Amino acid sequence: MEAFRVERSGPLKGDVRVPGAKNSVLKLMAAAVMAEGLTTLTNVPQILDVEIMAELLRRLGCKVEHDIATSTVTIDVPAKIGHKADYDLVRKMRASISVLGPLVARCGEADIALPGGDAIGSRGLDIHMQGLEKLGCHVHSEHGYLIVRAENGLSGANIALDFPSVGATENVVMAAVLAKGNSNIDNVAREPEIVDLCNMLVKMGAKINGIGSSVLEITGVKKLNPTTHNVVPDRIVAGTWAIAAVMTQGDITIHGVKPSDMELVLEKLRDTGAEIKSVEDRLNVSMHTRPKAVDIVTLPYPGFPTDLQPQMIALNSIATGSSMVTENLFEARFRFVNELARLGADVKINGHHCLVRGKEILSGAPVEGTDVRAGASLVLAGLVADDVTYVTEVHHVDRGYSNFVENLTGLGANVKRVEM
Ligand code: EPU
Repeated sequence: MEAFRVERSGPLKGDVRVPGAKNSVLKLMAAAVMAEGLTTLTNVPQILDVEIMAELLRRLGCKVEHDIATSTVTIDVPAKIGHKADYDLVRKMRASISVLGPLVARCGEADIALPGGDAIGSRGLDIHMQGLEKLGCHVHSEHGYLIVRAENGLSGANIALDFPSVGATENVVMAAVLAKGNSNIDNVAREPEIVDLCNMLVKMGAKINGIGSSVLEITGVKKLNPTTHNVVPDRIVAGTWAIAAVMTQGDITIHGVKPSDMELVLEKLRDTGAEIKSVEDRLNVSMHTRPKAVDIVTLPYPGFPTDLQPQMIALNSIATGSSMVTENLFEARFRFVNELARLGADVKINGHHCLVRGKEILSGAPVEGTDVRAGASLVLAGLVADDVTYVTEVHHVDRGYSNFVENLTGLGANVKRVEM
């Protein structure tokens, strides 16, 4: 079993570059199957999830190549593609569900293994299904698969999502762009990764109005064309490095970011006492004192991202003062808090609130990184804990962070990947 061995490390200092966003690239790869021919994606992160999505697309009949040296993925989509996503891939990566909209739009049918719940929550699919049914799909489940059929093709519809779900917005939008007629989709998610997907769909020939707002008006087109697209920067990876700078009282310049996608996160970090400067695609975060505790409430964008909640709890656990962190997206995302408590953090959960009383220092111990963000946060905590921390289940971190250890050691952290 592999683990990260983390030692207390002085202020992290230096430069780090963020790649394209995991939560965008996976959907852009899925969207590529809607157009026959060669789609090229640049600024692609070197993460496990990209390899899983590549394998899924290959099984649908696409030729997929990932050139790591140039951070480019090419997807050559044949005239006829398969319509099935198998359980062995879906269980490894939940985002496999994002081929559902594209497949039903392109083939009129999709058989997708049901992903089930995962470490951060039960993660329903009802909003995806309600949207697709409105567009003319019949949906049922059989032997662990979701069977979706649109025998008479898809037709535009007025849809109001119960909740601005990221995944449901993506699936419904991808289906609607190839449906017959107009769709009006209300209460959509507005995450920068959704904007990125819509921008790519428009380049492919889709007609979408209202991109970035909570209502999308879509006029269906008959066919989409392949395109070339640069993946939006990963605001969660950028936020993780910014939080590392604050926690270690360091000075990090993060390159390749889009600061306008991170306004609330940067505001919260300023409230901890950090100095933050942004120039074009560079963000400099420096900290000269122990951080002040800040309250956090996670919400759909432009609210505070749930994917930075664990990192902020780690920060608050060594801050001066107490804070309340409220998680509104995933019911099990506080699971990692028990691991943080093993490092001596003073944390108390009450429903979807977590009270954190800051301590001067944490205490190294073996802990389990239960999901991608939990794993990264425990490593950050290990940097400010005495002695040695071992974070296990590192495969979760590999799913979302390219060259995690190399980036940290480049900033002066004492972190190694070891066999346990
Ligand atoms: N939900 C339903 N029914 C649905 C869809 C969603 O009840 O049909 C619930 C979910 O169970 C959850 C909430 O709505 O409680 C939000 O889920 P959403 O659909 O918005 O999230 P997602 O599409 O499953 C993506 C990211 C997550 C990120 C969330 C929220 C990808 C691959 N995943 O998940 O990223 O936390 O949006 O921003 O894009 C991560 O990267 O660590 C991660 C978990």
